[in-house]
Amino acid sequence: MAHDELHETAKALVADGKGILAADESDSTIKKRFDAIGVESTEKTRRAYRDLLFTTPGAEEYISGVILFDETIRQSSADGTPFPKLLASKGVVPGIKVDKGAKPLAHAQGETVTEGLDGLRTRLEEYRGLGARFAKWRATYSITDELPSQYCEWTNAHALARYAALCQETGIVPIVEPEVLMDGTHTIERAYHVTSRVLYALYTELFEQRVDIAGTLLKPNMVLSGYEASNRAGADEVAEWTLKCFYKHVPAAVPGIVFLSGGQTDEDATAHLNAINARGPHPWQLSFSYGRALQAPALKAWGGKPENVEAGQRAYYHRAKLNSAARTGTYAPEMERELVTA
Ligand code: 13P
Repeated sequence: MAHDELHETAKALVADGKGILAADESDSTIKKRFDAIGVESTEKTRRAYRDLLFTTPGAEEYISGVILFDETIRQSSADGTPFPKLLASKGVVPGIKVDKGAKPLAHAQGETVTEGLDGLRTRLEEYRGLGARFAKWRATYSITDELPSQYCEWTNAHALARYAALCQETGIVPIVEPEVLMDGTHTIERAYHVTSRVLYALYTELFEQRVDIAGTLLKPNMVLSGYEASNRAGADEVAEWTLKCFYKHVPAAVPGIVFLSGGQTDEDATAHLNAINARGPHPWQLSFSYGRALQAPALKAWGGKPENVEAGQRAYYHRAKLNSAARTGTYAPEMERELVTA
């Protein structure tokens, strides 16, 4: 019974044409985003901005779920409706980031392990009471000539699996997010190699810790050349290496792979997802769980001014619509201009 609910929630999150909005920026991350547009980050401005996103008319045509931060899941829309209730009333599944961030890994210079397992069962129960039906835990891995170490890959995989098992016990779908960071000068082949090893460790640990794979979603990086590399791979090559990696390492029982955008421009994130889906059908739904790539134009259009709320909502709606098109491989760069005339 509990398993049925997990499977149904996971499937709903990757329903045709829909993807996830990651709006779970921690206080320090949202401050960075607000600094870039000259807006002070306060409880009030953070609430107003999330309200803009969550009340965007029609966004639910393209958005299946929203990942919230601890502060946000406790906040309300301007009319007093709690955010999780508002989202659920539109058929959008509320989710919650539950990790406590990536911290330095002992005896491993330059590497991190994600913390947050202590007390997690109790926190998950509380979040479920507040309306959350899925969760997120993010581990990060840097690429250099030597890193990531096998130690870092397996330590993070172990924590991801412990988190996933606890979520499933509470009736919450775990999104497992192993993010290989794309900073650096590495080649796309190197990103393929590292992402493969990270996924191999992750699925081994999930299996060992008795996680029901059909009640999970994977949130990975795409396989890309390093952002500072010369001769960076184009969309076709990105699709080819990404699919090669996932076909080898992700069980077909996983209902969906929801990519993070990870610092790609919003247009690249859409074009890459489109190229990946244009080569379908695939064994899993291939969708998005974007933070920056869904929000960047909205943040800019809003700029913290109440009179710009509608402009911000139009920008967010447009980006969600283009990513929805990318789910079926029907996105075309000309569609970027539609907003100007809308
Ligand atoms: P980006 O799409 O901005 O990478 O954010 C997604 C996310 O949730 C990172 O944890």
